[in-house]
Amino acid sequence: EVWNPSGKYRVVSTKSMPGTRWINLLIEQDCRLEICTEKKTILSVEDIVALIGDKCDGVIGQLTEDWGETLFAALSRAGGTAFSNMAVGYNNVDVNAANKYGVAVGNTPGVLTETTAELAASLSLAAARRIVEADEFMRAGLYDGWLPHLFVGNLLKGQTVGVIGAGRIGSAYARMMVEGFKMNLIYYDLYQATRLEKFVTAYGEFLKANGEKPVYWKRASTMDEVLREADVISLHPILDKTTYHLVNKERLAMMKKEAILVNCSRGPVIDEVAVVEHLKQNPMFRVGLDVFEDEPYMKPGLADMKNAVIVPHIASASKWTREGMATLAALNVLGKIKRYPVWGDPNR
Ligand code: DGY
Repeated sequence: EVWNPSGKYRVVSTKSMPGTRWINLLIEQDCRLEICTEKKTILSVEDIVALIGDKCDGVIGQLTEDWGETLFAALSRAGGTAFSNMAVGYNNVDVNAANKYGVAVGNTPGVLTETTAELAASLSLAAARRIVEADEFMRAGLYDGWLPHLFVGNLLKGQTVGVIGAGRIGSAYARMMVEGFKMNLIYYDLYQATRLEKFVTAYGEFLKANGEKPVYWKRASTMDEVLREADVISLHPILDKTTYHLVNKERLAMMKKEAILVNCSRGPVIDEVAVVEHLKQNPMFRVGLDVFEDEPYMKPGLADMKNAVIVPHIASASKWTREGMATLAALNVLGKIKRYPVWGDPNR
């Protein structure tokens, strides 16, 4: 699909994206926009090299693509200077290779914070209240009347939520769980996490001023402390070699038998084989997973586990957010081509 065929700058988008604002932004700024209409979901490196062709100023790509040496070399040969990843995470991008070939890289932070945190909260609730299991039960026509034991789950109020990685998304999730469900909070982050600290402090003062019971919160000095103490644990780190299999067999064993583990970050942060085994051994342990180690695949056995809620990497999938991500992705490319500010650029 080609927009503004006579545009001066050739920009390729490897996928169609929601909304029209991003398209208008590019064509208003003299870009010829080519949107790949290939039906297969995940494009290979060879597919993308072919899309880049001989002349390409910038590419908007997706987290499912492997942006390494080969693609940045191809983009640079085609005269390209900008690559925009339509995601906040950029573990699929080799930034050193981009630097080597003089290609600026952008990502799309900010617009997906609340949407992603809302999905983490949804998975927490769905796991705690066994919503998917109950839904399946209804659809199977098995409901034959109210029973005291039917789908009994966990009450979140007064329990402790644990957050690992208190950046934008982790902090927004913590705020939702503390304010919305009156949970206590324990979190771990390598950095200061002032955003979250300011919120819990101010919220504590608000509760005190209104004569309400204070919320207990603390910053843990180790991640294991969070795993041992929390009832619901949500993972929000970036994926790099330090966070690969952060939650492994040993760490699963530290968690409470009835804990809930939520992951909306990246699949490889969890050892998924170990999780399947742990779910089998501990029927009261539950998980809410949006991401998987080898997407689009799941490790054998996971789909059979009643104590797992599983969704297909949709944490940022609200209309507002996806349109915002597409708009930012276009601005990032324009930022380099036309020298506008680029998101994710430390010199911005
Ligand atoms: C991201 O942005 O990194 C998410 O995984 C998809 O929105």
